[in-house]
Amino acid sequence: MEKLIVHGGAPLKGVVDISGSKNSSLPILAATLLTRDTCTIRRVPDLSDTNYMVRILGELGAEVERASGVVVVKAENVASVAPYDLVRKMRASICVLGPLTGRLRQCTVSLPGGCVIGDRPVDLHLKGLEALGAEIKVDGGDISVDATQNFRGGPMNLMGKSGSTVLGTGNVMMAATLAKGITSIEGAAAEPEVEDLANFLIKMGAKIEGAGTNTITIEGVDQLHGAEHTVIPDRIEAGTFLCAGAMMGEGITLRRVNAAHMQTVLDALRQCGFTLTLGRDTISIAPNPSAKGFDLTTLCYPGFPTDMQAQFCALACAIGDTSTITETIFPQRFMHIAEMKRMGAQVDLEGATAKIRGGHPIKGAPVMASDLRASAALVLAGLLSQGKTEVNRLYHIDRGYEHLDDKLASLGAKVERMRE
Ligand code: EPZ
Repeated sequence: MEKLIVHGGAPLKGVVDISGSKNSSLPILAATLLTRDTCTIRRVPDLSDTNYMVRILGELGAEVERASGVVVVKAENVASVAPYDLVRKMRASICVLGPLTGRLRQCTVSLPGGCVIGDRPVDLHLKGLEALGAEIKVDGGDISVDATQNFRGGPMNLMGKSGSTVLGTGNVMMAATLAKGITSIEGAAAEPEVEDLANFLIKMGAKIEGAGTNTITIEGVDQLHGAEHTVIPDRIEAGTFLCAGAMMGEGITLRRVNAAHMQTVLDALRQCGFTLTLGRDTISIAPNPSAKGFDLTTLCYPGFPTDMQAQFCALACAIGDTSTITETIFPQRFMHIAEMKRMGAQVDLEGATAKIRGGHPIKGAPVMASDLRASAALVLAGLLSQGKTEVNRLYHIDRGYEHLDDKLASLGAKVERMRE
């Protein structure tokens, strides 16, 4: 187990390259199971989550090669069972459900376990596959799918009580590419990662329209072929670095980023009074000592992303004003608050709303990472704090941030990775 020591107060400046998107890479890697041919995926970030998906593909029988961000997959033969031991470590493993259903017409995939950020059912994934004619049984912790009889395209609505589902839309879209006839998905997730997955599937020969909107139409084909694809930049990693740049120092520039995928985050930073300079694939930001607070609510894309909520809680500590942020996607996703309070942050949690009174000095302390984005928020708070912060269970960060400590150090942060 490793931890990250953050010595607070160091000014940040310089340039940082944003990696490929984790949340795009995971479903795209799973989509390679839809064909026997070779697929080449570029800019896959070096993360424990992507490493794990590569392992899952291998365990399902695919040949996988990986070298510096390029993953080559040939899934000539694939197994139809993804057991608990394989799936339990990463929720996104559920992404193999759609491809295995589409390709093999039957499969068994273990139900993903619990998650600290809140209740994460997969009922919408199953509802979508049933609308394609699949028979679904959930028994003993496994999802068994039988689509050998009546697998065909059809209409469905995947809108849930908290909005659309990202991986659910992806799973159903992947299965529907090989379902005869027309599938129309109302209430589809419009996230850039869903659109990126669709673009990869289209390169494989799929017929998809409307990806990136809440209505996606798929015309099934007999089979898909191999393809090459470069994943989109990671908009959440980019948002995290923009918070760091807004909180500390003399201004930083992000390279290899797509601002079009980050409108609400950029708007929120501008409304606080931070100056953003956009280039073709760059964004620069500088602190503003008289920045004002924000009132934000997390929503499905293009709304403000839940995956940036924790980092904005840390940013609010650096702003000499009061800010609020309401979480509607995962209402319990506030594990970072108690740890930030240990650092002296002035935060009140009222139901699913965090109220942060910023501008007060916070002090370094040993804190516990609990999930990916909460841990990023604790690192940001550590950068702002007086003294030393010890972020334990660093593996949470390594799941979703490629070489975060090296990148921060290259901007001047005083951070060191150590064994716990
Ligand atoms: C994706 O998870 C992301 N993960 C999450 O990012 C992100 O927080 C989430 O989308 C929302 O943007 C990946 O892409 C790998 P959802 P996903 O299905 O698809 C409810 C990170 O930090 N729901 O869109 O699993 C659910 O409970 C991770 O990188 C149902 O009710 O999330 C939630 O309230 C964390 N039934 C809401 O929908 C379902 O069948 C959105 O969940 C599915 C979801």
